[in-house]
Amino acid sequence: TLRTAEEAIGRLVRDVPDFPEPGILFKDITPLLADHSGFGAVVSALADAGREGGEVVIDKVIGMEARGFILAAPVALALGVGFVPVRKAGKLPGETHAVGYALEYGEAVLEVHRDGITAGERVLVVDDVLATGGTARATAELVAACGGTVAAMAFLLELSFLPGRAAVGDSPLTVLSVI
Ligand code: PRP
Repeated sequence: TLRTAEEAIGRLVRDVPDFPEPGILFKDITPLLADHSGFGAVVSALADAGREGGEVVIDKVIGMEARGFILAAPVALALGVGFVPVRKAGKLPGETHAVGYALEYGEAVLEVHRDGITAGERVLVVDDVLATGGTARATAELVAACGGTVAAMAFLLELSFLPGRAAVGDSPLTVLSVI
């Protein structure tokens, strides 16, 4: 499935120059999402990051607002576990942990509900793009603040000209396609 997913990403992720700012080459995943078999292939390949020897080895899937939600929620359903959203500041109604982070363009705060992850739970973190790694690192800090463990991280795309891989620490990393 990894090969099928990689082929779908190569065919259906669209490059948009100078978005959202001049000099940024934006990776638009919407054509991939609009293709049922391509979307299915990437969800299936991302879900494999939550299994070892065919067994599901995680308790929760976390996705990061907003594009991470689109991938992480179906991955959670595919694995038969719950989904937990990591959201930008001020969006979650309950008690939260919050972590500040630097984006490829800009700065922000991410939050998770304190009771979203129970102490001791093993979490699979899923997002569309690993760029600087700031989002993923902040998410790992939020999981740790809840007393959970990042069992693995899985991304559709890694931008290898940015230091994301170094920023995410030593959790097992799955990327379906590298640019
Ligand atoms: C993008 C992308 C990742 C993150 C990757 O999200 O979806 O979450 O940036 O960048 P990083 O590795 O440098 O942190 P963005 O914050 O643009 O939010 P969106 O999904 O709501 O568009």
